[in-house]
Amino acid sequence: MSDVPGVRFNHVSKAYGDRQRVIDDVSFEVARGSFVVLLGPSGCGKTTLLKMVNRLVDPTSGDVEVDGAGIATRDATALRRSIGYVIQQIGLFPHMSVAQNVAVVPSLMRWPPAQIEARVSEMLELVRLPAREFGARYPAALSGGQQQRVGIARALAADQQILLMDEPFGALDAIERARLQAELHGVQGRLHKTVLFVTHDVDEALRLADEIVVMREGRVVQHGRPIAILAKPADGFVAELVNANDVVRRFSVMKVRDAALEQDSGPASPAAVRFDDDLRSVLSVMLASGTLRLPVIGDDGRPLGTLTLASMLAAARAAGS
Ligand SMILES: Nc1ncnc2c1ncn2[C@@H]1O[C@H](COP(=O)(O)OP(=O)(O)OP(=O)(O)O)[C@@H](O)[C@H]1O
Ligand SMILES: [Mg+2]
Repeated sequence: MSDVPGVRFNHVSKAYGDRQRVIDDVSFEVARGSFVVLLGPSGCGKTTLLKMVNRLVDPTSGDVEVDGAGIATRDATALRRSIGYVIQQIGLFPHMSVAQNVAVVPSLMRWPPAQIEARVSEMLELVRLPAREFGARYPAALSGGQQQRVGIARALAADQQILLMDEPFGALDAIERARLQAELHGVQGRLHKTVLFVTHDVDEALRLADEIVVMREGRVVQHGRPIAILAKPADGFVAELVNANDVVRRFSVMKVRDAALEQDSGPASPAAVRFDDDLRSVLSVMLASGTLRLPVIGDDGRPLGTLTLASMLAAARAAGS
């Protein structure tokens, strides 16, 4: 990550007509290469804030910077082309085929046709809609979840450094959602894009975010790392939103390395875990293998000690104090 922020909101407010502000003095930044999740209830202003980054909405006051420069005077069309965007309502072009939809921005950028075709195939493969079968279909001939996956492929196709994703997985079933979350997490690990991602889903936020911005009624009520949001919610609203006392949820943002290991050689166990495994999956392993003590091994397979449920609980409690 570099020091230049990818996206910065400076005291941004938005009011429609003379009504109450729907965005009220919001300031935060999305560091270049980081994944920031906007979390909050319906109507709190998440979509409005996202649309300010590509000038679909202009602030009433304050300003937004992209890569260190204010965007108020940037050409909106050029700005939009430079930013990947998955909109909340899918928004495919109905008169274009699936392949043409995915190719929209690369075509506008005048990539060579062979490169566009290869990229479209790659992206449709990623969202499991092989071009052979789906490329020539029109959006009306796809299910809602399939349309949403085309929207994701389209947003990734031009490989922009900044990605805005507005509830991109909202229409997917739980399995497909988990798969695409893992896929996106992997893409982010490789490409380090600057991502502003909107969701209602707390578990999705915890799984994907480097940092979470919690919003309520147009204001930012807390901004921090997932473990900080869970362990030290700023107020009762945040605590309730993320169900901060849910220990299993807290486990999901902690790793084996966060807990103290015992050094006795515990009973031989069929399963072993590693330093970088998250404690929520460790708990699943414990429950599946019927033991509350598991050996921890290093990347080279050497035993490092024994992890117990008791030490996991102690670590989760300590994170909250
Ligand atoms: N064009 C508009 N004119 C007037 N009010 C608007 C307009 N667009 C949005 N709003 C209002 O601004 C507020 C924030 O809307 P926004 O779409 O940003 O919420 P959201 O957090 O994305 O909600 P959801 O989770 O339901 O998508 C809402 O009260 C909405 O009614
Ligand atoms: Mg919205």
